Amino acid sequence: MKLTSKELREKWLNFYKERGHVDIGAVSLIGDGTTGVMFNVAGMQPLMPYLLGAKHEKGTRLCNVQGCVRTIDIESVGDESHFTFFEMMGNWSLGDYFKKEKTQWTFDFLTKELGFSKEKLCCSVFEGDENAPRDEETANLLKQIGIKSENIFYLPKSDNWWELEGTVGTPCGPDNEWFYPRHDNPCGPNCDITCECGRWVEIGNDVYMQYKKLDGGKYCELENKNVDTGFGFERLLMYINGLTDGYMIDIFKPVITYLENACGLSYSENAEARKAMRIIADHMRTSVMLIGDEKGIVPSNVGAGYILRRLMRRAIRYAKQLNLTSENLIKVAKIYIEEIYNEAYPLLTEKEDYILAELNKEMDKFNKALEQGLKEFDKVIFGIERHKEFAKQKGEEVKNEIGGKAAFRLYDTFGFPLELTIELASERGYSVDENGFKLAFEEHQAKSKAVPQGAFKSGLQDESEQTTKYHTATHLLNAALKQVLGPSCHQAGSNITPERLRFDFPCDHKLTEEELTKLEEIVNGWIKQELAVTKEEMKKERAVEIGAEHQFIERYPDVVTVYSIGEVSKEICTGPHVENTKVLGTFKIQKEESSSAGVRRIKAVLK
Ligand code: ALA
Repeated sequence: MKLTSKELREKWLNFYKERGHVDIGAVSLIGDGTTGVMFNVAGMQPLMPYLLGAKHEKGTRLCNVQGCVRTIDIESVGDESHFTFFEMMGNWSLGDYFKKEKTQWTFDFLTKELGFSKEKLCCSVFEGDENAPRDEETANLLKQIGIKSENIFYLPKSDNWWELEGTVGTPCGPDNEWFYPRHDNPCGPNCDITCECGRWVEIGNDVYMQYKKLDGGKYCELENKNVDTGFGFERLLMYINGLTDGYMIDIFKPVITYLENACGLSYSENAEARKAMRIIADHMRTSVMLIGDEKGIVPSNVGAGYILRRLMRRAIRYAKQLNLTSENLIKVAKIYIEEIYNEAYPLLTEKEDYILAELNKEMDKFNKALEQGLKEFDKVIFGIERHKEFAKQKGEEVKNEIGGKAAFRLYDTFGFPLELTIELASERGYSVDENGFKLAFEEHQAKSKAVPQGAFKSGLQDESEQTTKYHTATHLLNAALKQVLGPSCHQAGSNITPERLRFDFPCDHKLTEEELTKLEEIVNGWIKQELAVTKEEMKKERAVEIGAEHQFIERYPDVVTVYSIGEVSKEICTGPHVENTKVLGTFKIQKEESSSAGVRRIKAVLK
């Protein structure tokens, strides 16, 4: 059976509408701030309050096709199945039907509507742990509707539990994942869904959201028994059309064909060109979607804007590799806006001029820096190669490593994000001394008054008990400032001694007495709530996605620690922190003054 993207979209929505669901349409790709998550990473995200029990105006059975952005695997884009933007076909029961109906409907949709063979369909269910029981109920239902017993697998939490990483107070639960083989040739006797040979792909999952995630890895039961279903649109489309390359579906095909013609290289025959074309196709699509979104963003150095900048700069770099220009990339954007998403995303057409202008602006900016930077990069490599020659003559060995200082120069003078240098280096079989980069950065920072203190050290001078308390209080103040002055208020500098904290933030006016009192009240309120302080390590991109506070994101290592205080604050930080806000005492602001133009400074103590 062959289906177009338009047909699949309609099939999904019609199937669930026929079963009493209302199509609620898609919302913005940019997170709504309720969970602090930067992008929508799943169809369920905007529905969080309703999964927790609030009443939805459209009823208890909902469906849609929702755009999502996940940049955690940005480096994997270039293979056949990774995308930074994708659409999720979703449907939900808000305390309405549960496992019996859901297993049947997913099965019917896959076998009757899409023609999947019931003999080959496989499922995994949750094997159970101390927090939630083994999901025998789902397994039994699956058997009853026709999934073979030997095709049902019980897997642990790491596989069969769905929750938004790095959040608390959010709904979650065990899930039933659906798998289908890409072909009929097992790699060996144990080639089942847990095999990594690539034959098995998860095509979607039904989450039974009956729990709420609490602090410290605990869960409590929700009153509502919900269903949250998500099927990957692009992936399913690839499957149904018998393809093994996600970039061959009708959404990408015109872009790939255009790129092939423009650069004169063959997508199917030239592996390097293929990778570059996929990266361009993916990153330009996500960039168009983010700029053209109803809450559209533009490239910048912080938060979501930084992710967008990184995507664009990566696309530009790969375009250069194929000898393509900015005009070619603009054409790619036009294909998405005018030909591919004109029906499903009409807002893109409305905003076309604006999107193209923003793309052009960023491309101009980066092209200039890139040209010079790449020359500099080549010089660095050349220098090391020569050094190696000399060393060899002396019988010494030199590592294929770009020094921290050189990487910093590329960053500082040519605007190369550290990740870009690492990526370029690895293409040449080189690594980058990331610690050395950090040191060079800190050295530079110490010399330059212009750069606020503490991008790595978090403004911590020593780690006494008192400074630790001030450190946690600083996070609370940062969060409170957002409530009083607006969500865009952020840290511009921080300094902590055992006697006080000092915090700088952009603000165009002297804070009023009311604002200062409000800040104290909020912080003291949180202290009284005895909020737990927890920490979690995660990839930097993930931390940005979940909205963790940060400064100079490109200067952090790949894996960062995120400290959360209850549900009120999330920050990338090296710590240390107190374990609970209850030990902080009383927060008192002693002084509010100007720090520099447009930046205010607060000094505060804990009593
Ligand atoms: N929330 C589930 C997912 O994102 C459906 O896969």
